[in-house]
Amino acid sequence: MKLPNQFYRPLAIGAPAPLRELPVKVERMIHFVPPHLEKMRAKVPEIAKQVDVVLGNLEDAIPSDAKEAARKGFIEMAKSTDFGSTGLWTRMNALNSPWALDDMIEIVGAVGNKLDVVMLPKVEGPWDIAYLDQLLAQLEARNGVKKPILIHAILETAEGVKNVDAIASCSPRMHGISLGPADLAASRAMKTTRVGGGHPDYRVLADAAETGAARSAYQQDLWHYTIAKMVDACASAGIKAFYGPFGDFSDAAACEAQFRNAFLLGCAGAWSLHPSQIAIAKKVFSPDPAEVAFAKRVLDAMPDGAGAVMIDGRMQDDATWKQAKVIVDLARQVAA
Ligand code: GLV
Ligand code: MG
Repeated sequence: MKLPNQFYRPLAIGAPAPLRELPVKVERMIHFVPPHLEKMRAKVPEIAKQVDVVLGNLEDAIPSDAKEAARKGFIEMAKSTDFGSTGLWTRMNALNSPWALDDMIEIVGAVGNKLDVVMLPKVEGPWDIAYLDQLLAQLEARNGVKKPILIHAILETAEGVKNVDAIASCSPRMHGISLGPADLAASRAMKTTRVGGGHPDYRVLADAAETGAARSAYQQDLWHYTIAKMVDACASAGIKAFYGPFGDFSDAAACEAQFRNAFLLGCAGAWSLHPSQIAIAKKVFSPDPAEVAFAKRVLDAMPDGAGAVMIDGRMQDDATWKQAKVIVDLARQVAA
């Protein structure tokens, strides 16, 4: 018999109406906090006012001997902070680790009513989501949790990428998927030592015959294929896609470029691991005012969303009307 989980409901994400509804929430940056450190916890009330989502990280980057302190620190931080409309997430430990079960039992038991989303790392297939889905259903029922706790998967193994369509669509509890470029690089045996971003040696050279001695080189985007695959899986399942971490805090321009590629390809947000990345994500994942102004002109020129008109020498039709609607809807959400 299926457990009574009254919480299931589709999560509509921003895309053209009437095909889909407005985004439920603007989540431009998921800001990571290491909750075992008291000094970092003390900053959370201020940070919560600046970001769309605060995430207490329990997984990688938290030392093994601090796992319990991180879990307890997260519970304390959740209890003592008024997050207002800011989302509260946690990144639990991987399902095959010694900490995962206690992460969920203790956190849902203590602060299940404040927790919006559990980020699940190292997801390989829909079976991982199904396990967590039922565990959350049990813990919600046991603890009288009043709203559904959603699941956000990290796409960070080759097996996970292979199964991304099934992962995205396997449960109404799915909130979205983030690219995890660091673990994914290792899983694929990529020859890098970075957390996201490009690599100067991943490039193509212009043909020698064309350019002679001065051959120009174009750096390629290491993550284009995976982000595009993830975005298609998420969009067709009606959930959100996110770029994940960018580890070089000293290179704001490269971070912005990586976030912007993800935004243009359809992602809703990215992770901020350092306070300097909050403003970058806010800027990149909010639509550009000039784009919004143009998109409004397209909507105004075609009130019923059909037909064809020329604006500034460019043809607009039903399909560009839908693109314009994505941008205008997002601008409305950001302004709300
Ligand atoms: C994130 O968890 C990553 O592995 O990049
Ligand atoms: Mg990872």
